Amino acid sequence: MKSKENLVFLGMMGSGKSSIGFLVAKKLKLNFVDIDNEIEKKNSTTIKKIFEEKGEEFFRKIEEKITLKKLKLSSAVISLGGGGFVNKNIRKEILKNHLSFWLNWKSEILLKRIKNSKKRPLTINATDDELIDLIKKRTNIYSKALYEVKCDNLTKNEIVDKIVQIYEKN
Ligand code: S3P
Repeated sequence: MKSKENLVFLGMMGSGKSSIGFLVAKKLKLNFVDIDNEIEKKNSTTIKKIFEEKGEEFFRKIEEKITLKKLKLSSAVISLGGGGFVNKNIRKEILKNHLSFWLNWKSEILLKRIKNSKKRPLTINATDDELIDLIKKRTNIYSKALYEVKCDNLTKNEIVDKIVQIYEKN
């Protein structure tokens, strides 16, 4: 890995960016940064409350600011929020300077995982059709990542091993 690069995990809500990112970081002995956590720490509140009290636009601004700041680290594992890579500035920086991994699962699995989530503002009042629609739209964007990891038939450990193998080839 080049010295200024980070490993960046992206994908839909429920794709395991945080848990897989954490395990990969542990295995590679690299620092781990979870952007959602950083946003909550910095604002001393939950993402759900930020959406409720200040709105999505405000959330997206702080998401951009914190993500771009964390991307200045080097050799860290960074797990984005599901919408992070949708932001053009964030995407541009990641594609130019970092190794990006899209954790891709089929829609049915993602839907099952996120539909009853109480902490995710975008899923709370959404119908299944709306969520499937969001997954489809996001898929186009996520597919720009450098590496696609097809996760459907793999265990968590197999996903981690696959990512470590890709990393070691770089
Ligand atoms: C979002 C995903 C969430 C969080 C926020 C918005 C999105 O992160 O950043 O609720 O737009 O997909 P996770 O993907 O970690 O759930």
